[in-house]
Parts: sequence; structure tokens; C-alpha cells
Amino acid sequence: MTSARGKTEARVALYPGSFDPVTNGHLDIIERARSLADQLIVAVLVNDEKEPLFTARRRIAMLERLFAGCPDVEVRRFRGLLVDFARETGARMIVRGLRAVSDFEYEFQMALMNRRLAPEIETVFLMASEEYSYVSSRVVKEVARLGGDISGLVPELARKELERAIRRQSRR
Ligand SMILES: Nc1ncnc2c1ncn2[C@@H]1O[C@H](COP(=O)(O)OP(=O)(O)OP(=O)(O)O)[C@@H](O)[C@H]1O
Ligand SMILES: [Mg+2]
Repeated sequence: MTSARGKTEARVALYPGSFDPVTNGHLDIIERARSLADQLIVAVLVNDEKEPLFTARRRIAMLERLFAGCPDVEVRRFRGLLVDFARETGARMIVRGLRAVSDFEYEFQMALMNRRLAPEIETVFLMASEEYSYVSSRVVKEVARLGGDISGLVPELARKELERAIRRQSRR
């Protein structure tokens, strides 16, 4: 992007989430965000208190494999305040996805709080294709645990890892 001062700066966008695991809804948002930015950082939240099914390392490894051939996509872990991490990376745009009205209230609150903390960073909301409007990591894990078919809702590598993780859990 060329700024008013005529300087060309790379537009760095940050897409934060838990990605426990990555779903096709996430991938849809990532593709849309890539078209808006020069560089997209997929930021994986290390949220130990949320007791994720996959460790941050596994969640990151899945995303890295999916975007191995894409130099404009970088996968990183973060903890703490999102705006601090955004500033650290030079991102001026935070990307979030919206599925339904139910997502809106929380996202609206977070966006305004982040704006108060970092007025120079803009939050941008994207909508995934309607075929993924009901897809969340939580629902996918629930269906997989109950033996339902989740193919088409998550990338193949996530489906395999999910089945493995659930088998491991049920043996305990
Ligand atoms: N299917 C989808 N369509 C649009 N946005 C999505 C979709 N799935 C996730 N997102 C967005 O991606 C961001 C990161 O989401 P997150 O990692 O919490 O995934 P999630 O599927 O909501 O997982 P969980 O069920 O654990 O909350 C959020 O802004 C969320 O709204
Ligand atoms: Mg969520």
C-alpha cells in the first residue's frame, strides 16, 4: 500500500484464533484475508485454561502443513494481549470471521476494546461461504467424538488427527 507520504508498506494482517483444530471455515476466512493483505499471520492462541484437544504445537503443525507452499502466510503462536502481539508483528489489521448474529456481540466487544487499546489497528470482519456458516471447531469435535462424519468440514489432515486424538482419549 502507498501511504499519503508516498511510502510503500507491506500490509500485514493478523488472523487470531484457537484453531483447535483448523476447519474449512477457517480456511475460507484465510483465503479471503490473503486477498486483502500482502502478508497474513495466522496467530494460534496458546490457551491452556481452555483445555484444547490439541497442543499448540499440533495446531500450528497442521496449519503449517496446509500453507507450506504459501510464502504470504505465516503461522505463529501467541499468548497474552492480542494488540501487543499485533504491534510486535507490525500488523495493522486484525481479521475475524463472523458466522451468525451469535458471534457478533462478543466480536463487537473485543473489536472496540482492541481499538481502545490500539487505535491504529483496525479489526476487519469477513464472512465465510454459507456452506461453512455452522462450522466451528467445537461442533466438529463433538460430532467426531460421537462418531459422525466430519469429512468436508475440516481438511483431511485435521480429520485424521481428530480421529486419532479421540481414539487416544477413549482408551484412557
Ligand atoms: N465457519 C466459520 N465462518 C466464519 N468465521 C469463522 C468460522 N469458524 C471460525 N471463524 C472465525 O475464526 C476466528 C477464530 O475462531 P476460533 O479459533 O475460535 O474457531 P471456532 O471454530 O470458533 O472454535 P471454537 O468452537 O473452539 O470457538 C473467529 O473470528 C471465528 O469467528
Ligand atoms: Mg470460537
